[in-house]
Amino acid sequence: MAANTLADVALNVGLSGVMRLAGLATRLLPIPQPTMMVGPGASGRLGQAIHDFGHQKILIVTDTTISRLGLMLPLTQALTEGGTEFVVFDEISPDAPIDEIEQGVALFQREGCDAIVAFGGGSVMDAAKVIGLAAANNKRPLQLVGYFKGLRGPAPIYAVPTTAGTGSEVTVAAVVSDPLSQRKLVIADTRIVPKMAALDPSLMTGLPAHITASTGMDALTHAIEAFIGHWGTTFTDHMALASVGMIYQNLPVACANGHDLVAREKMALAASYAGQAFTRANVGYVHAIAHQLGGLYHTPHGLANAIMLPHVLRYLSPVITDKLATLALRARLGDTSESSVDLANRFLDSIDAMNRKLGIPRHLAALRAKDIPALARAACREARLNYPVPAYLSQEDCENVIREVLPRRVRKPPGRT
Ligand SMILES: NC(=O)c1ccc[n+]([C@@H]2O[C@H](COP(=O)([O-])OP(=O)(O)OC[C@H]3O[C@@H](n4cnc5c(N)ncnc54)[C@H](O)[C@@H]3O)[C@@H](O)[C@H]2O)c1
Ligand SMILES: [Fe+2]
Repeated sequence: MAANTLADVALNVGLSGVMRLAGLATRLLPIPQPTMMVGPGASGRLGQAIHDFGHQKILIVTDTTISRLGLMLPLTQALTEGGTEFVVFDEISPDAPIDEIEQGVALFQREGCDAIVAFGGGSVMDAAKVIGLAAANNKRPLQLVGYFKGLRGPAPIYAVPTTAGTGSEVTVAAVVSDPLSQRKLVIADTRIVPKMAALDPSLMTGLPAHITASTGMDALTHAIEAFIGHWGTTFTDHMALASVGMIYQNLPVACANGHDLVAREKMALAASYAGQAFTRANVGYVHAIAHQLGGLYHTPHGLANAIMLPHVLRYLSPVITDKLATLALRARLGDTSESSVDLANRFLDSIDAMNRKLGIPRHLAALRAKDIPALARAACREARLNYPVPAYLSQEDCENVIREVLPRRVRKPPGRT
């Protein structure tokens, strides 16, 4: 890593003190956990359960693809049979743009809804969380950016994830995008954790292989970043390691055969476990960089994480060797007779191999060299202010890490063919 300036060192010492305090607070913070229904048909059973709570009218938040595929049918049938009214809002685009969230808030209020079902991937679940929080507080999404910005909690939120990646069904976070500033923004509040969630693998059998791959790599990144950071607890380590083992065993299977319900269910569980790990232990530089790439180039979140993950880990590997070795053991890449360094290196190589196997590109086609300083600055700021990273990267380190994924033609020195 590049040598830090004196000012950098002072800033880092100050920030690590603040981060330690924040870590302590996170350990003590009660984070609710949703009741989970798991297995094929779980979304219909969730519909029956929601009916029993006697809501007046439910806003179902989703996107046009989910609507078109008819994935909500078992849930809406259960609601209809029970006599629970609902209205469907299927306008959410990837990365939950705030103007669409505002339309959802208006519909929630106009229809007099008193509960929300989030039915979709992370974008939909995060939009639903913010619709609930904004409606409860009569605030615009931008006013809620940050931690605990609403006085009141949202109406009850129920979640049906249709990707196995974000773990948003169990997390305190919602990530939205502001098309104007081209930034992704995080809203965090323990009250936006859904009350109940259905992990239904039968909804995921039609998920295209490339989305299965990138969303699965998002879950892997959550587990790894939660495990290598400074806020891990016995519980989060336990969840993170279980998730890593399950992803190594099941992600390639789910990508090769989307109809394998066992692999799909294991992936859905692994994503939730990783969510439970990182909602307490938080994430790190991979996410800090991926959020900038998502904001500027609209790179899908999981894809940005998958591309950055091996490079960030290689950079940090001298300070996390033992943790990487533990991850290697959990991924069944070796045994305890081997040295930590060998195991750690094997784990790093295995992420490259996993990306190759899943068809994840090594480089980010959209990345432009001239954008790298600003991307690195924003990523360093996000990581320093929010994440309990194993070590701080300097601006120069971070630029170097991002430069690793520049498309090849741009990386050649000028004048060479
Ligand atoms: N709240 C959190 O804790 C958290 C954590 C990580 C990521 N995120 C955020 O979540 C968002 C990404 O979510 P995502 O990776 O789940 O992707 P996504 O929700 O954007 O969905 C990706 C695409 O897959 C399609 N899709 C979803 N389910 C499908 C299915 N079953 N069959 C066919 N197509 C389907 C969607 O229509 C969409 O086009 C990002 O904005 C990211 O920042 C949030
Ligand atoms: Fe993520």
